[in-house]
Amino acid sequence: MSDQSHALNYMNYLAVDELLSLQRPVSEGPEHDELLFITIHQVYELWFKQLLHELEQAQRQMAAGDTQHVLATLNRVKAILAVCIQQIDVLITMTPLQFGAFRARLESASGFQSAQFRELEALLGRRDGRFASHLLAQHREKVEARMQAPSLWDSALRYLNGCGFTIPAEILERDVTEHYVSDARVREAVLEVYRSGHQAGLVCEQLVDIEVSLREWRFRHVMMVERTIGTKQGTGGSSGVGYLSSTLQHPHSFPELWEARENF
Ligand code: HEM
Repeated sequence: MSDQSHALNYMNYLAVDELLSLQRPVSEGPEHDELLFITIHQVYELWFKQLLHELEQAQRQMAAGDTQHVLATLNRVKAILAVCIQQIDVLITMTPLQFGAFRARLESASGFQSAQFRELEALLGRRDGRFASHLLAQHREKVEARMQAPSLWDSALRYLNGCGFTIPAEILERDVTEHYVSDARVREAVLEVYRSGHQAGLVCEQLVDIEVSLREWRFRHVMMVERTIGTKQGTGGSSGVGYLSSTLQHPHSFPELWEARENF
């Protein structure tokens, strides 16, 4: 019989033993609900990883002017975000009392410190170094690298220009480390995209959907937080619900796509 110990199988290909050893409760007992709390956060981090992977792919496909594949990739991003939103249903089966039984053991741990979430925000155009300042150096560097690279909207504008909808050169060559400022000429180009019936208009709508999904996630997260801890401070040190509600007002990732709606 051949030696099976090195042959690829389900367990070693997916590193299942390692994966299942990574849920490490810190509470006494441990508290029953802590496993769900850890599992759901880890699942989110895996989806964040996949989202970054897919969005990078979308940027490459935009650079290649490959509309069909851009649409397919953004569609996948939307589907993953839908799962991220729906997963909150699982978390809210944990009552405030059940969470309270181990919350103190979390010390200062908080989603606030999710480096991949900050990378996602940066990829979607956030250019505010403060939100990464509390991360460890190796994580902060990754977020900073995202803020130094073109955002998804920068890539989309280059793509639209490549499709024949003129975007001013100064915008295409802008300093991508700076916060993007909406421009009337881009708004005109976007209107032209929509009116022309070009498939690039579908790409623009997918981008709007993605921004809406992220805001929906933020909204569901803040409602879940309020029903679980009320107006208590966050373990990450913020005011909690007050702070999270303010993030619902973050600037648009694709400002001219929103402004264009006033002109239809
Ligand atoms: C019982 C469950 C949860 C509670 C009570 C909770 C509470 C909070 C609070 C209060 C904050 C504000 C920062 C702070 O002071 O800590 C926060 C931020 C955050 N949480 Fe949660 N959270 C929960 C579950 C989750 C889950 C499952 C995720 C998924 C990854 C998550 C991701 C985040 C992220 C990314 C932030 C930063 C948001 C921003 O700064 O825009 N949270 N959370």
